[in-house]
Amino acid sequence: MRRAQPMLTLSFLLVILSSLYVNILSCNEVDRDSLISFYRQIYSPPTAPLNWSSTDCCQWEGIGCTSFNGVTRVTQLSLPGRGLAGSITPSLGNLSLLSYLNLSHNQFFGPLPLRTFHNLNHLEILDLSSNRFSGLLQPDSFPVYVRTVDLSSNRFNGSIDPSRFHRAMNLISFNVSNNSFTGPIPSSICRSSPLLEVLDFSINEFGGHIFHGIGECSNLRVFRAGFNSLTGWLPYDLYGVKTLKEISLPNNHFSGPINSRIVLLSNLNILELHVNELSGELPLDIGLLSSLEQLQLHTNSLNGTLPPSLNDCSNLTTLLLRNNHFGGEISSLDFSKLQRLQAIDLGNNSFTGFIPSSLCLCRSLTAVRLAYNQLVGEVPPCMASLRSLSHLSLSDNYLSNVLGALKILMHCDDLAVLFTSRCFHDEMMPDDNDLKHLTGFQNLQILTLGGCRLKGEIPTWIGRLRKLKVLNLSYNQISGPIPTWLGAMPSLFVVNFTQNFLAGDLPREIGLLPALIADNSSSDLSSLALPFLFDSNQYNRLFNLPRGLKVGNNNLSGNIPVEIGRLKLLQVLDLSNNNFNGIIPDELSSLVKLEKLDMSGNHLSGRIPESLVRLTFLSSFNVTNNDLEGEIPKGGQFDTFSAISFQGNPKLCGNLLQRSCIATEQVDTTHDEDDEPDESKWDTIPFGLGYFVGFFAVSITMVFHCSWRREKVNYSYHTNNLETRSV
Ligand SMILES: *[C@@H]1O[C@H](CO)[C@@H](O)[C@H](O)[C@H]1NC(C)=O
Ligand SMILES: *[C@@H]1O[C@H](CO)[C@@H](O)[C@H](O)[C@H]1NC(C)=O
Ligand SMILES: *[C@@H]1O[C@H](CO)[C@@H](O)[C@H](O)[C@H]1NC(C)=O
Ligand SMILES: *[C@@H]1O[C@H](CO)[C@@H](O)[C@H](O)[C@H]1NC(C)=O
Ligand SMILES: *[C@@H]1O[C@H](CO)[C@@H](O)[C@H](O)[C@H]1NC(C)=O
Ligand SMILES: *[C@@H]1O[C@H](CO)[C@@H](O)[C@H](O)[C@H]1NC(C)=O
Ligand SMILES: *[C@@H]1O[C@H](CO)[C@@H](O)[C@H](O)[C@H]1NC(C)=O
Ligand SMILES: *[C@@H]1O[C@H](CO)[C@@H](O)[C@H](O)[C@H]1NC(C)=O
Ligand SMILES: *[C@@H]1O[C@H](CO)[C@@H](O)[C@H](O)[C@H]1NC(C)=O
Ligand SMILES: *[C@@H]1O[C@H](CO)[C@@H](O)[C@H](O)[C@H]1NC(C)=O
Ligand SMILES: *[C@@H]1O[C@H](CO)[C@@H](O)[C@H](O)[C@H]1NC(C)=O
Ligand SMILES: *[C@@H]1O[C@H](CO)[C@@H](O)[C@H](O)[C@H]1NC(C)=O
Repeated sequence: MRRAQPMLTLSFLLVILSSLYVNILSCNEVDRDSLISFYRQIYSPPTAPLNWSSTDCCQWEGIGCTSFNGVTRVTQLSLPGRGLAGSITPSLGNLSLLSYLNLSHNQFFGPLPLRTFHNLNHLEILDLSSNRFSGLLQPDSFPVYVRTVDLSSNRFNGSIDPSRFHRAMNLISFNVSNNSFTGPIPSSICRSSPLLEVLDFSINEFGGHIFHGIGECSNLRVFRAGFNSLTGWLPYDLYGVKTLKEISLPNNHFSGPINSRIVLLSNLNILELHVNELSGELPLDIGLLSSLEQLQLHTNSLNGTLPPSLNDCSNLTTLLLRNNHFGGEISSLDFSKLQRLQAIDLGNNSFTGFIPSSLCLCRSLTAVRLAYNQLVGEVPPCMASLRSLSHLSLSDNYLSNVLGALKILMHCDDLAVLFTSRCFHDEMMPDDNDLKHLTGFQNLQILTLGGCRLKGEIPTWIGRLRKLKVLNLSYNQISGPIPTWLGAMPSLFVVNFTQNFLAGDLPREIGLLPALIADNSSSDLSSLALPFLFDSNQYNRLFNLPRGLKVGNNNLSGNIPVEIGRLKLLQVLDLSNNNFNGIIPDELSSLVKLEKLDMSGNHLSGRIPESLVRLTFLSSFNVTNNDLEGEIPKGGQFDTFSAISFQGNPKLCGNLLQRSCIATEQVDTTHDEDDEPDESKWDTIPFGLGYFVGFFAVSITMVFHCSWRREKVNYSYHTNNLETRSV
């Protein structure tokens, strides 16, 4: 009895406590019902199912509740990156106190009925980015207290009706990038939502002019509308928004000048107007933009000289002005104040004069591109002090003293990329006497010295460049043999000796090139500081380069070494216009990745090996002007080559050349007739199979090419990011 009393009190207390507990945490009936109907419409991954089965919905994954005067309501629904799919049900509209909705990075699909959110008068954050929502933004408007709307990376289309915003007067950030929206940029958005700080319309199909209106967002910090089809002049009222830190409008069709009023934007950090049709000169007092860190104006039609005040932009890290019509004495610019400069690209303009020594004072420089200008003189000795320099492109200028340049640049320990094609002219190839003690260039991955009419032989110091992947000595006057040590270079996978005076055999040691046999660099996805042109394509990653061996237009002789067949990763093999003789080795059919094979203009004899039909990626084949004989192989990619690949071989035959093979090869006709029914039956099968294989090969090639191209496209989008962030 004595003990029963406290027990009773205790359980009484427990009852009270637990009812309190339920009161505090169990969610409101209406909230629970609407969540359950949402839940019933979605799929979660079987490996990690969403478990919303307990009674108290406030305990469910992703749900947050708040108590308002003793009433508990759902205020948060946050399930980003949870692998969910399904569509948004109108039932969510009953979560009337919801303030935070984040379903980003899932696979939700279907339209977005804004009406659902009409009554969510407490919704502040709406993040539906990176899903598969599609269609038009449905009628009705964004709710009144919403501050952040992120619909980026979905599949929305149609135009954005400005009336969607008429209630959203608290909107601060609006991101619809990476969709398929069309029509004009809704610039009147700033009238209804004047507090906006971030606007991102990039990567859509918006078109036409940007109309007056953006200027009314007097707090705007970030304005992005790149990668659209916008036209006309840059929106004038933008120049009045003093708060702007970032203007990013690349890859559109903007034309006209950059108004000099832009210098009023003294907070500007990032100005990206590249790949447009802008013309005229840079504002003289651009130096007033003293906070500028990234100035990307490449690929426009800008002209004039660079204003000296540019030196006052002392926080500049990235200055990309390539592909314009800028000119004038480059050495008149004083870069010494740009101590933070990391990447400078003045390529493909009309700058004249010497490489400015003041560049050497920019100690943070990692990438310098001065290619395609009219620079003269020598590489200044002070460049040896640029210890972070990894990318230097001086191609297509009128410099002299290649030896001096190499002696200076070998001190740049980080140098990975050195483009000096068509840059020096009619000099001697620096040889081992010149560079006896070469210890530098230990990180060099690309060396191009093409088109310089250099004389001499291939020097052995090149063999000491253990990281060299790309060697371009094409279009010179280099004589002597191809050295056998080349085959021992551990990283080399692009060799271009096209058009020189090289003689002797193609050494069989070439067949040992490790980086063409096994992929030891597949993990090397490091991007280059600046993109570069390679066979007219733009690349920013070495890894994407087609692996090739090009020795065309030389005086090489002897047989094609069978060892070449070991280079399984080879994509391009060019042996054209030499004096190779003997047969085409069967072993070439082991080059399973080969896309281009050019053996034209030699003295090759014998038959074209049947086995070459196995090269399913081969899209270009050339054996013109040789002494080949017999029937042209049939099947595989050979069904796609035309007669011009085989011309100038009088003894070749086949339908393609309209030269019958019967005359040359006597067929045992009696035997044939005996087996006729069988034969025709068998005929159809290999034919069908061949067709299938051929089709398969073509599809594979297409997929391959598409993915390759996609990478380039991606790249061109990322260019600005990579250029700015990786350097
Ligand atoms: C869901 O969670 C409850 C407890 O909250 C548990 O009892 C139940 O077994 C879980 N169901 C699944 C399928 O994991
Ligand atoms: C929303 O709640 C009301 C009652 O409050 C109910 O009648 C209606 O069916 C609910 N709607 C949805 C879509 O759950
Ligand atoms: C939504 O969730 C993701 C993942 O946690 C987060 O990165 C993102 O910032 C959230 N969105 C907003 C607007 O808070
Ligand atoms: C908009 O969203 C995309 C992702 O979809 C993101 O990359 C971008 O940085 C966002 N824009 C802004 C201004 O934050
Ligand atoms: C654009 O969205 C797609 C998916 O819809 C995504 O794969 C891609 O990474 C996004 N691109 C950017 C630049 O955010
Ligand atoms: C929008 O996309 C849908 C498919 O998601 C398509 O049916 C519709 O025609 C598109 N509308 C416009 C205006 O492009
Ligand atoms: C330059 O950058 C530094 C550090 O990021 C900052 O403190 C300084 O204010 C900036 N200068 C200008 C003129 O914006
Ligand atoms: C720059 O181009 C404009 C036309 O866009 C032309 O009127 C002007 O003369 C050019 N200036 C120079 C210095 O070439
Ligand atoms: C140089 O720039 C012009 C545009 O100004 C462009 O058409 C041309 O392709 C560029 N050339 C190279 C080699 O990049
Ligand atoms: C190699 O040199 C040739 C000849 O100058 C040039 O056409 C080609 O663009 C160069 N390749 C690279 C990658 O620099
Ligand atoms: C190599 O030489 C070719 C000539 O066959 C030239 O057009 C090309 O730009 C060079 N490419 C490489 C791979 O350096
Ligand atoms: C084959 O090479 C010759 C010269 O080497 C050239 O004239 C011809 O255009 C090439 N044909 C094809 C199909 O590439």
